[in-house]
Amino acid sequence: MHSNLLKLLFASVAAVGSVSAALVTSAESSVSSYDAIIVGAGVAGNVVAERLAGSGAKTLLLERGPASTAKSGGTHFMPFNDTVTIFDVPAFAFSIVLADPNAYYRDTPHTTGYLFGGGGLMWVPPAEHDINDNWPTGWEYDDIKQAYERVESLNPGTTMPSGNGERYDYEPGAFGLFSDLLGNEGWTHVDAIEQPNEKHLVYSYPPQNVAAGEGIRAGPPHVYFSLALENENFSHQLNANVTRVIRDGGLVTGVEVENEDGSRSNISLNEGGKVILTAGVFGTSRILFNSGIGPIEQIETVENGTTGVTLPDRKQWIELPVGERIRDHPIVTLLVDTSSSDFTFFNNSALYFGTPDSKDIELYNTEASGVIAQSQQRILPWTSVTGSDNRTRHIQLTIAGQQEGQLSVKVYLTHGLTSTGTIAIEANGTMTWAQEPWYNTEGDISAAVAFVDEFRGYLEGSRTLELTASQRNLTSRELVLGGYGTGLHFAGSAVIGEVNDGGSVVDLDTKVWGTQNLFVADASFHADVPTGNIQAQVAIMAEHAAGKIISCRV
Ligand SMILES: Cc1cc2nc3c(=O)[nH]c(=O)nc-3n(C[C@H](O)[C@H](O)[C@H](O)COP(=O)(O)OP(=O)(O)OC[C@H]3O[C@@H](n4cnc5c(N)ncnc54)[C@H](O)[C@@H]3O)c2cc1C
Ligand SMILES: *[C@@H]1O[C@H](CO)[C@@H](O)[C@H](O)[C@H]1NC(C)=O
Ligand SMILES: *[C@@H]1O[C@H](CO)[C@@H](O)[C@H](O)[C@H]1NC(C)=O
Ligand SMILES: *[C@@H]1O[C@H](CO)[C@@H](O)[C@H](O)[C@H]1NC(C)=O
Ligand SMILES: *[C@@H]1O[C@H](CO)[C@@H](O)[C@H](O)[C@H]1NC(C)=O
Ligand SMILES: *[C@@H]1O[C@H](CO)[C@@H](O)[C@H](O)[C@H]1NC(C)=O
Ligand SMILES: *[C@@H]1O[C@H](CO)[C@@H](O)[C@H](O)[C@H]1NC(C)=O
Ligand SMILES: *[C@@H]1O[C@H](CO)[C@@H](O)[C@H](O)[C@H]1NC(C)=O
Ligand SMILES: *[C@@H]1O[C@H](CO)[C@@H](O)[C@H](O)[C@H]1NC(C)=O
Ligand SMILES: *[C@@H]1O[C@H](CO)[C@@H](O)[C@H](O)[C@H]1NC(C)=O
Repeated sequence: MHSNLLKLLFASVAAVGSVSAALVTSAESSVSSYDAIIVGAGVAGNVVAERLAGSGAKTLLLERGPASTAKSGGTHFMPFNDTVTIFDVPAFAFSIVLADPNAYYRDTPHTTGYLFGGGGLMWVPPAEHDINDNWPTGWEYDDIKQAYERVESLNPGTTMPSGNGERYDYEPGAFGLFSDLLGNEGWTHVDAIEQPNEKHLVYSYPPQNVAAGEGIRAGPPHVYFSLALENENFSHQLNANVTRVIRDGGLVTGVEVENEDGSRSNISLNEGGKVILTAGVFGTSRILFNSGIGPIEQIETVENGTTGVTLPDRKQWIELPVGERIRDHPIVTLLVDTSSSDFTFFNNSALYFGTPDSKDIELYNTEASGVIAQSQQRILPWTSVTGSDNRTRHIQLTIAGQQEGQLSVKVYLTHGLTSTGTIAIEANGTMTWAQEPWYNTEGDISAAVAFVDEFRGYLEGSRTLELTASQRNLTSRELVLGGYGTGLHFAGSAVIGEVNDGGSVVDLDTKVWGTQNLFVADASFHADVPTGNIQAQVAIMAEHAAGKIISCRV
């Protein structure tokens, strides 16, 4: 299964990268303590920090990694353009992983960002059903509408990334081939940004996290961060690795940071202040375990382990199901050969490792347009299927070129899935799986198999597209169970709940049960995974959480 990992890295990539040791603060400030400390500058962290600073709180955003994008101070510029970094260029996404694979796997079981930023190139605004099916009181679609609209207005995403209004390499190309294939089966063309609720038998030009007209990656680490930088109450620090929160019972008084030389220091909260964890599902779980919050077994592993983390006294440990019930979108990659002359392979990797076409460079540098301004996906379809348990599951496909004469069709099992897993911590602080979260239920397996069967039926009727010979040899069940890997769309490891009954980690204000001022606002607290790529939901729910956190009295 892990051999599939490199393939799935062809998915758009969160940022990872080059190291700059600089400590950056955006606002000169005489205070050394804060009203709000936000831990982790990814998708959620940038949203929450902008909102907290906007409320008048002295706000500090901490990030363990270095700068990435040009805006954040990154310097890994492209050979063909010295104002955009490897992290800014939309077409480059997956090759970032190839450029520095070691940066990703240090202490988590999967690729996670080790630097400022986060979120890949696909931006799929959630459907109403994504929110209404499983979120609790105060978090249904009508409740979060205002947050949804603010995210939409600041970071709409686009199906037209090129500044000049042209699309490149879609038709003729993968979009043309697959829109024909699906169109013949009754699927219809929608715009995933304009019609987020249409998620059955539909396909869209890829909805992209690109600032159209600027030719660069957008998202909260670009848009919200830019806004926050203008606020005198906002500051941020890179290369600041938070090990734990410092607490006295339920009252958090600051955070402990591990510096680059391995020494540790404290950053304090002002009275009435708040700490908000947005370190991603693995980072947030680790900080909670290190703070004496979680299943007793995980806290004991820290206590017995080698990381030298100081835990609170055992009587202050707060037992909560941190790390449990995590979900993800599993991906199975189908490889489709084509004899059609309408498809030519565009090799995104060659943009960095090879010599890009001078016409493509010219289009990018002068008009923020062309294949370099686009993500590598060419079409995104969605539908839904029923599992053996008679429950509906949603399916997303992302389709891109794989090599000359071949395309990859990634099949994601999404909203409605019932499998969950559990994160644990190792004695050395590395995060691992106690139970992997994919295909643990027959309902999930049977639903994915039903979809793959249906799709193979479409291919059998096609004159230009066919599954590769080795995949044709396998049953759909063998394809699903033999080839799945992570979708990197984790959620739910510190889940929200209405009562502290052992089934949730945070309350309806996203405050950790048993604490007075510790919050979780990243994908960890999500009640469920959405139908499409998750980051738009992460941003929207962080917006909504920020409102609750601001009005929550300590
Ligand atoms: C390779 C890849 C490709 C992806 N592609 C897509 C896509 O195309 N579309 C999509 O919607 N989603 C995509 N995702 C998923 C998306 O990136 C995540 O769902 C999203 O970033 C989660 O947001 P978050 O705020 O919860 O955490 P993150 O965005 O991961 O942010 C967590 C931040 O906290 C920092 N951190 C961690 N620990 C600490 C600590 N101890 N102290 C200080 N800082 C810390 C991390 O460095 C990171 O910057 C992709 C993910 C990956 C890894
Ligand atoms: C910064 O915080 C101070 C004190 O709360 C407040 O008066 C000021 O308006 C804030 N500035 C901004 C730009 O929000
Ligand atoms: C941060 O701390 C974690 C856990 O102790 C460790 O694995 C990691 O190497 C540290 N450094 C960075 C930059 O993440
Ligand atoms: C950080 O705070 C903890 C808890 O109050 C304290 O024990 C420790 O000495 C502090 N560390 C530093 C470097 O000040
Ligand atoms: C931690 O160590 C104690 C004492 O040796 C032992 O009883 C306990 O089982 C250990 N727990 C874990 C999770 O390793
Ligand atoms: C794409 O380009 C890279 C770098 O030039 C090369 O190593 C790789 O083999 C190419 N991939 C394909 C499928 O042609
Ligand atoms: C780099 O590309 C951006 C986006 O198109 C453009 O604005 C900028 O002028 C380019 N820089 C150079 C040096 O060509
Ligand atoms: C399956 O669910 C549908 C509606 O969700 C219901 O109408 C139908 O009766 C169910 N079928 C079975 C066999 O339970
Ligand atoms: C941490 O421990 C795990 C489990 O023993 C091991 O697989 C991993 O390589 C260790 N990581 C480091 C950085 O030593
Ligand atoms: C398909 O399966 C047959 C029978 O097991 C085997 O002989 C053949 O080599 C396989 N073909 C491919 C392309 O894997």
